[in-house]
Amino acid sequence: MSTTTTRPSRPATASDFIPDGDANGSSKKPINLLRGWPAPSLLPAAQLRAAANQVLADPVVAVPMLQYAIDPGFQPLRDELARWLGEVYPVYGNSAFTADEIAITGGASQGLACLLQSFTDPVYTRAVWVVAPCYFMACPIFEDAGFRGKLRAVPEDEGGIDLGALERGLKEEGGKEMETPPPPALKHPYPSRKLYRHVIYLVATCANPSGKTLSLPRREALVHLARKYDALIISDDVYDFLQWSVTPVTSSSSSSSTPTPLPLPSGTPLPLLSQIDNLLPPSPHNPPGKNFGHAVSNASFSKLVGPGTRTGWIHATADFAWGFSQTGSNRSGGAASQFAAAVIWRVLRDGALEGWVKGVVRPALRRRHVLMLREVRSVLEPLGVGVWRGREAGGVAEEEVYGGYFVWLTLPEGVDASVAAERARREEALVVAPGKLFEVVGDEDSARFPRNVRLSFSWVDEDEIVEGVRRFGAVIKRMLEEGGGEWRINTGTADEDSVAEFK
Ligand SMILES: Cc1ncc(COP(=O)(O)O)c(C=O)c1O
Repeated sequence: MSTTTTRPSRPATASDFIPDGDANGSSKKPINLLRGWPAPSLLPAAQLRAAANQVLADPVVAVPMLQYAIDPGFQPLRDELARWLGEVYPVYGNSAFTADEIAITGGASQGLACLLQSFTDPVYTRAVWVVAPCYFMACPIFEDAGFRGKLRAVPEDEGGIDLGALERGLKEEGGKEMETPPPPALKHPYPSRKLYRHVIYLVATCANPSGKTLSLPRREALVHLARKYDALIISDDVYDFLQWSVTPVTSSSSSSSTPTPLPLPSGTPLPLLSQIDNLLPPSPHNPPGKNFGHAVSNASFSKLVGPGTRTGWIHATADFAWGFSQTGSNRSGGAASQFAAAVIWRVLRDGALEGWVKGVVRPALRRRHVLMLREVRSVLEPLGVGVWRGREAGGVAEEEVYGGYFVWLTLPEGVDASVAAERARREEALVVAPGKLFEVVGDEDSARFPRNVRLSFSWVDEDEIVEGVRRFGAVIKRMLEEGGGEWRINTGTADEDSVAEFK
């Protein structure tokens, strides 16, 4: 393995893997299956332009949208979101969504940062339990909030986050706390907020990167666990609206790049963890007179409208949502993204957003996923590559539900994913995300992904999806044929130098 002087003194980030044009030694057109962005054709520019014209032409809306916001965010959007969420999510118990349970954010990333500012303390909060593999860009947000060295990886099993492993970890931390009494907190967020002892971070639906979705029983069990240990569950719910049904696709039908038309059920999301939590009696960990609960849904318009809108929302108990709105940066200036929130309100109110998601975004993603899966089954599965297929939908044996932007692969025994990604980059001008990228920073040893690769089907054109998988197949085939050569690593992940070479 060659060495390099550009070795990063930080964990690898996605930009380390993005090709820089002619840096790859191949004459092939670069294909990027790493990027988790919506394709340009999935951005509703015309609808947003019409909505922006309408709201700016109406002084009743134009004035508040151009002024400072109120702390919880643009009120008409909160009202509209309560209506929409009530329609989208199945009734759970007697739950209905109310506007006071919702606060507007600058998207899920900014929402996460604010949640940590208001409800955690780097001393009082013992640990952040992060599902592994994880959405890697969350780790720097946790570190910025003072949790460097306090991130704990919790592995997934077939059904998502492993609750047995999580509870063992929580118990162990509790034991340490008995031996060493907790030092006083640095923050004093009372009375509008509270500090939690633990944070549990995951993507409950269509996880990035694994694609897994927690079943309803597991959601309920997770909420009960959080309540037992005074933990705040933060679920990045950014893919809930992007689910569809996939019937099994056989590799024999894979010769054409046009997928067979399939019926298009809506892929109804399972209840939010915050819905489940809100229905339970107030927790004993609440301060007197408050009901903060133990789960918050951290949602976003990035994948529905466009990441550039930088707008999202949180859903939790009313006390929690109000407390969130009292984060210092919200009080000075009001909630983030007021302008974009007003434009989005208009497309939501008119039904244009729903029409766009149902009529364009979801079918396009589903079609792209079918294409990718078909190619994976035809080209990669015969080489011994495994692929996660999705959750079973409500007992219909033939039907599986999938969603989000990504497919998660497991390479054959002995084939290292970081090396495969590097070779794909050099030999095929193809960028894929090796599993190493999704390890929890500071606790990598607890859950490593040396044989996993994430492929994104959201960004590139359909023909590039097919071509990209074929090129990756060519790399894996060569690695298997070379068997045991320089590129075949039998243990652990590639060293940092090989990761640095992606630059
Ligand atoms: C799990 C997860 N959380 C958060 C984000 C970022 O969301 P936002 O653009 O709303 O900040 C992404 C984007 O890919 C994501 O996959």
